Amino acid sequence: MANPFKNIQGVTAWRAPSNIALVKYWGKFGQQYPRNASISFTLNNAFTETSIQYTAKESSDKNIDLNFYFEGKENPKFAEKIQRFLESLVQQFPFLPYFSLEIHSQNSFPHSTGIASSASSMAALALCLTSIENELDGGMYPSLFFEKASTIARLGSGSACRSVYPFLAVWGKHNHVQFSSNEHAIPFADNVHPVFKTFKDAILIVSSEEKSVSSRAGHALMDNNPFADARYQQANNNLDLLINAMKDGNIAKFGEIIENEALTLHALMMCSSPSYMLMQPNTLKIIDLIKTYRTEKDVPLYYTLDAGPNVHLLYPSENADEVENFIKHTLLDFCENQKVIFDEVGKGPIKLK
Ligand code: PMV
Repeated sequence: MANPFKNIQGVTAWRAPSNIALVKYWGKFGQQYPRNASISFTLNNAFTETSIQYTAKESSDKNIDLNFYFEGKENPKFAEKIQRFLESLVQQFPFLPYFSLEIHSQNSFPHSTGIASSASSMAALALCLTSIENELDGGMYPSLFFEKASTIARLGSGSACRSVYPFLAVWGKHNHVQFSSNEHAIPFADNVHPVFKTFKDAILIVSSEEKSVSSRAGHALMDNNPFADARYQQANNNLDLLINAMKDGNIAKFGEIIENEALTLHALMMCSSPSYMLMQPNTLKIIDLIKTYRTEKDVPLYYTLDAGPNVHLLYPSENADEVENFIKHTLLDFCENQKVIFDEVGKGPIKLK
């Protein structure tokens, strides 16, 4: 059959940020559906930029024709992952087999910082693919565009679906959150106090080593975790509490909930079978120092953790100077090579020229 896209070519590029979950997604079913609803801050400085150059094929073969470059170089490991992902998306994007694709991707943060790049990279890729569809099809409503991009990002890496919106995003069906869905995230910035839209996130790198358990394996461990049902209930409840705290501008309550979420995530891993201990001694030291500092100085500084040893410090922008002094003078000694990434809540993805 002749290529219906004969002679068509173009290029599209997006920058998509990482995100940090406040109520965590841990446990999934089916095609990357979450067992509980989650909410995250969209970040600003930790991002991936991806471009896709697409050229209609001369040949009529139906294979996905991909050349993939990471930070300017061919990367067979990533290329294979992306190839498989694109092959799984032919139903959602029937145009894919008709084009030769050249994808370039790069992160704003070094690859070995222990920062997961899957959220930003899958979000950037999903936005590019949805843009190409838009360019070939003649345009979707903006809200539908981001819904589709979020759905596609979810299929690449669950938490990535939250990275397509500014400030805050909720993912997962929750009875008290209108329009919430397991399929895609929804934007959630409208109902929160402005203090949270300029929050800071300093990421203390305790270790940049690769995690000892992949997030795929970690989620799977929830299937046999004896506390799983109680956890899913707690998460949905924490989301209710957090939404109220954020609406009211109640930073102390916000802090109490996010720390509870971080420790619960790690507790779940500790009591899984097999079990994992992803915190390191310096993670605990940092947590201890934060608590003492908060009490002694009465500064609203709170922490959260991903599925790893690094610590995200969350604080209002008006406290940035004092907190950043505390980081530099006290906490940096507990980081690998004194490494910290200063980030903040951001305005979401950007379409690049
Ligand atoms: O998106 P995944 O499959 O890498 O899972 C992410 C899980 C956590 O980062 C630990 C929590 C979350 O909600 O982002």
